[in-house]
Amino acid sequence: MSTAYDLVLHGGTVVTPAGRAQLDVGVIAGRIAALGQLSKAPAAERFDATGLHVLPGVIDTQCHFREPGPTHKEDLGSGSASAALGGVTGFFEMPNTTPSTDSAERLAWKVQRARDTSWVDFAFYLGATSENAEQLAVLEQGEGVCGIKLFCGSSTGTLLVDKPADQLRVFSSGRKRVACHSEDEARLKERKPLFEGQSVHAHPQWRDEECAVKSTASILQLARQANRKVHVLHVTTAGELPLLEANKDLASFETTPQHLTLAAPECYDRLGTLAQMNPPIRDARHREALWEAVRSGLLDVLATDHAPHTLEEKARPWPQSPSGMPGVQTLVPVMLTHVSDGKLTLERFVDLTSAGPARLFGLRRKGRLAVGFDADLTLVDLSARRTITNAWSKSRCGWTPFDGFAATGWPMATVVRGRVVMRDGALVGAPAGLPMAFDP
Ligand code: DOR
Repeated sequence: MSTAYDLVLHGGTVVTPAGRAQLDVGVIAGRIAALGQLSKAPAAERFDATGLHVLPGVIDTQCHFREPGPTHKEDLGSGSASAALGGVTGFFEMPNTTPSTDSAERLAWKVQRARDTSWVDFAFYLGATSENAEQLAVLEQGEGVCGIKLFCGSSTGTLLVDKPADQLRVFSSGRKRVACHSEDEARLKERKPLFEGQSVHAHPQWRDEECAVKSTASILQLARQANRKVHVLHVTTAGELPLLEANKDLASFETTPQHLTLAAPECYDRLGTLAQMNPPIRDARHREALWEAVRSGLLDVLATDHAPHTLEEKARPWPQSPSGMPGVQTLVPVMLTHVSDGKLTLERFVDLTSAGPARLFGLRRKGRLAVGFDADLTLVDLSARRTITNAWSKSRCGWTPFDGFAATGWPMATVVRGRVVMRDGALVGAPAGLPMAFDP
């Protein structure tokens, strides 16, 4: 008697660690139970994936979903819906909410809220403070914790640990990866008055390359001293790359689709403060250096730093305008367009958005299409030509920096642990996301 599957996805081109193959995917109890020819196997549900590529679920490892606190910009429900519509099956969420996620109680609140409202699977960073530094080793064992977030330079919210002695206390407590917002706070403070009265074009000059390089050099040294795994978030400069390469045994890093796609000054001419984020979008020299890190294999992960602010907030004159832009929904079409343009392979995309996150953060049962792994699937049409619009964007902020972007390659369905949550641009079913599990 043949096995009865809960779901069989048939006819698609499946991207496995061994390469692309015409395989059907059989799912039982949320996990991949078989990869093979399953046309005759009994199944409760069948999904015709003909013409589509079936990728391991895309995980966005840097999102700000604003809950609790400024939920007029986003919440875990709207942010995760945006993720599902964009083909993203899981997200890691940042602690700079109000209040910050810096205690076991606040973490548990978020996990429960996400269990109730998230469309996709989730994990949370714990925010490091100079007060909780010694407790991080215990706190990081909480349910759904992907790692520690350390703001070395200030951005949105109040989290900041800028003194090297305090940063070392953070690196010395616990084992999970410490993800750093790496900009040198002293240099940020010192240089801000130099740009008074200027426009957003000065954003990358104020928060300049030296700000990032100085901070990254310092945190790499502290991480080495504490022998702690460190992850440098949204790397934006050519100057940080040799430092990261020299410390590859301990340090991983991320960049964003925005930093690979947009460049100064054009993005500020066209988008004004909508292009303002921290660390900034810089000129084409830096963008090219980041692409080289994609090509060479140096870059570990791509994440979006999805950081929505309303149009009204963004309309304040720089630098009162808040930094950040949405991104979780546009990650897949923007990057598949780069795949179509020959800038990276589909396999490298999978490595950066699924296998990479699983490898770095010790995610259990995620990051590859293999028997026994969670049936998290991002189904894409590599040849679909569509235009990204504000109207398509589900983020509560109601806009995207990619409005008008002509994409080649589009997410057609999102499957989380065998449940179809998005198909042909519409959400399906109800939110049933679960906390992701990590190796201790
Ligand atoms: O531009 C940014 N906005 N960078 C960050 O690191 C924080 C984020 C936010 O929360 O708005």
